[in-house]
Order: sequence, then C-alpha cells, then structure tokens
Amino acid sequence: MKDTLNIGLVGYKFMGKAHSNAFRKVGMFFEPSLRLNMKAICGRDEEWVKESAEKFGWEGYETSWENLVKRDDIDVIDITAPSNFHKEIAIAAAEAGKHIFCEKPLALNLKDAREMLEVVKKANVKHQIGFNYRFAPAVQLAKKLIDEGKIGKIYHYRAHYLQDFIIDPCFPLVWRLDKDVAGSGSHGDLGAHFVDLARFLVGEFDEVIGMSETFIKERPIVERMTGLTATAQEGAEMGKVTVDDATIFMARFKNGALGSFEATRFAAGHKNDMFFEINGSKGSIRFSVERMNELEYYSVEDEEGLQGFRLLQVTEDIHPYADAWWPVGHVIGYEHTFVHEMYEFIEAIAKDKPTNPSFNDGVKCSQILEAVDVSIENRQWIEVDSL
Ligand SMILES: NC(=O)c1ccc[n+]([C@@H]2O[C@H](COP(=O)([O-])OP(=O)(O)OC[C@H]3O[C@@H](n4cnc5c(N)ncnc54)[C@H](O)[C@@H]3O)[C@@H](O)[C@H]2O)c1
Repeated sequence: MKDTLNIGLVGYKFMGKAHSNAFRKVGMFFEPSLRLNMKAICGRDEEWVKESAEKFGWEGYETSWENLVKRDDIDVIDITAPSNFHKEIAIAAAEAGKHIFCEKPLALNLKDAREMLEVVKKANVKHQIGFNYRFAPAVQLAKKLIDEGKIGKIYHYRAHYLQDFIIDPCFPLVWRLDKDVAGSGSHGDLGAHFVDLARFLVGEFDEVIGMSETFIKERPIVERMTGLTATAQEGAEMGKVTVDDATIFMARFKNGALGSFEATRFAAGHKNDMFFEINGSKGSIRFSVERMNELEYYSVEDEEGLQGFRLLQVTEDIHPYADAWWPVGHVIGYEHTFVHEMYEFIEAIAKDKPTNPSFNDGVKCSQILEAVDVSIENRQWIEVDSL
C-alpha cells in the first residue's frame, strides 16, 4: 500500500489558494494516514500559475487541465476552477482513475451533477465536495448537540447568507454574474452552503417555494479580477447580468420542520454573514461564520430565572478538531475549515471509507436549488423529489 498521495490542483486564485494552504498545513497539525505530495497546480496563464506554484509550494505546474488529469504521477484531482468546468474536469479525472475533490456547487445544473455522480460511482474513485462550513468546529458541535437530542424535535431552521461585494452598480461583470459560467448567482454560490448545512443538521427537504431578483441588470465588462474584487476600464462596454442578485425561499422538511432562507449580495454592511438558527422542543442553537469560534446555545431545561443563550467558545480540546490547533481560547479562522475537510478526504482515501460530504450531497443540494428555481418560474410550491 502506498504511503503518499500525489495531488494535482486546478485553479490558483481564491479557492486555489485556500486548498493549497490546506494541503500544506494538514500534515503539520493533523496526523493524516498518507503523506501528501503537492505535485502540480494548473491554470491557463503560464506566468501567473508558475508564480503561484512557487509561492504556494507546488513541485510544478501545468497550463492545461487535460494534461494534468492524464499524468500517471497524480492520484487526486482537486477542482477549484469556475463551476462551468467542474463536470468536464471531474469526468475526465474519474475516467483516468483519480480521486476527486470538487468545489461547490457541484455543477451548473442538476442534470450535470447527476451525470458526474454516475461517472465517479462507475469509476469507483473517492469523491468529495467543498462544503467547508460543515467543518467549522462550532458547526460540528451543533451537529453533536442535535444528535444527542439536546435541541429536541426541530421546529425551525432559519438561515441567511448576506454579502455586499457587488452593491456598486459599477462593479464589473465577473464570471460569478454569468449564468453560463456560474450556473446561478447568490442562490447557487451562497445558497449552496446553507442548504447543505440544513441537510446536515436538520434533514431532507420536502417542498420549497421562492422568489428572486436581479437588481442591477447590466454591468461594465470586467478587465481584471482577483478573489472577490475586480476592475473595469473607464467607459467599458456594458454586458447583461444573467443570474439572480438575491434569492429568498421557504421550505418544509420531511421531519415537519419549517425553513426560511435568504441569500443576497446586496446587504450593505454584511461581508460574509452566513447565519443559521435552529429552534427545537428542548432548546435553540445559532451560529454565524463571522464569529466562527462561537456557538450560542439555549436550553429550556436550565433553571428558571437563569435561562438565556449561552455563548460557547468552541476552542476546548474536547471540541471537534480543536485539539489539533492551539491552546483553549486561541481562535482559528476561515482557512482552517479547508484543512479539516482535506484531512477527512485523505482519511477516506487511506482507510477506504465513504467521503462526507460526497458528490451525492452535491447532487441533493443541486436538486433543492433547482426546485427553488422551478418554484420561482411557476410561482408555486415544488416537491423536491419530483425533480
Ligand atoms: N467553498 C467555498 O466557500 C467557496 C468560496 C468561493 C468559491 N467557491 C467555488 O470555487 C470555485 C472557484 O471559485 P474561486 O472564487 O476560487 O474563483 P477564482 O476566479 O478566484 O479562481 C478560479 C481559478 O480557476 C482557474 N481557471 C479558470 N478556467 C480554467 C481552465 N480552463 N483551466 C484551468 N484553470 C482555470 C483560474 O485561473 C483561477 O485560478 C467555484 O466553483 C466557486 O463556486 C467555493
């Protein structure tokens, strides 16, 4: 049995950097069963990808993902290219016998996501999707409290994911605003995360109904972009925004709980505000990404007169993943969620265990997002399993 895993990564910008950082850190803070070789990073622009390879610590680079996928010395293909490339790269990687890690959303639509799942299953390779917020210690603790019955029967899941990075009408037409590249706007980009967390924490969806809006219909054509920032030339030609700026929907879960969901990139002052609150018969929990080390917990069983939300700082050794990092109270951040997800992915490969979340979770998430789209089009409730 091999004791190393050779990684090939497609993409070197926002997620490419987050994943590179995770591959570098995982062996330093955890004890994965396989040693990682960061073999090659891939992007189309040779100068930039070469610079990223050196800076992030990759052995080499490729300028074509097709070449990367064909290499015999690569065991894992990690996909952080924009969403329109996920299907093509994942299918080629599976057919070449590589294990696959793919960023969310899995594909541009449900049909493509299902096709990807079929192919990886047939190829019998490991497949994981990048729902990294599952791996925040506070979210793992929320799951533990729910599984232990501390919240009781769940009545409500209330979530929002609020950003404001495109509120300026002069912000250019980046790929995230193009349906052919991104699949959808805030719905698929932000909504994918809180829908996945809803499935993780509450259960499967029964039916949904939503509404959406594109507030700014045209924007200047982009000149250059990095991460979530971008520039356009003065007087640049305008192009059409083809995705939603905001989507809001309601849901009924199969276990009888009710859900409300709001995703927008037009909430001035909110930078990366993903929040959920769960109310059950025995108590409530709430979490916000912007205060990632904390979980708020209310128990109806607390002594009368002393009831109230407790603020748990999820950095104690007994908390999920916390003992791998720093002493209690020495908080962790956004990038650590990626280290945790990569650790679990490596262990699934090493021990031949199921990955979690897998492409199957990616498909289920796409099914819910698409059911919301259909409900918006038809202005009616849609049963998720009808798709
Ligand atoms: N898990 C999360 O929280 C999270 C956050 C942001 C983005 N994402 C997802 O990650 C993916 C990438 O988003 P991003 O923000 O990193 O985008 P980005 O624009 O910052 O980076 C995209 C990268 O893909 C590369 N690329 C584009 N076309 C390519 C091609 N044909 N061949 C090789 N490389 C190519 C680009 O060079 C760039 O390095 C998207 O699917 C997005 O939805 C996930």
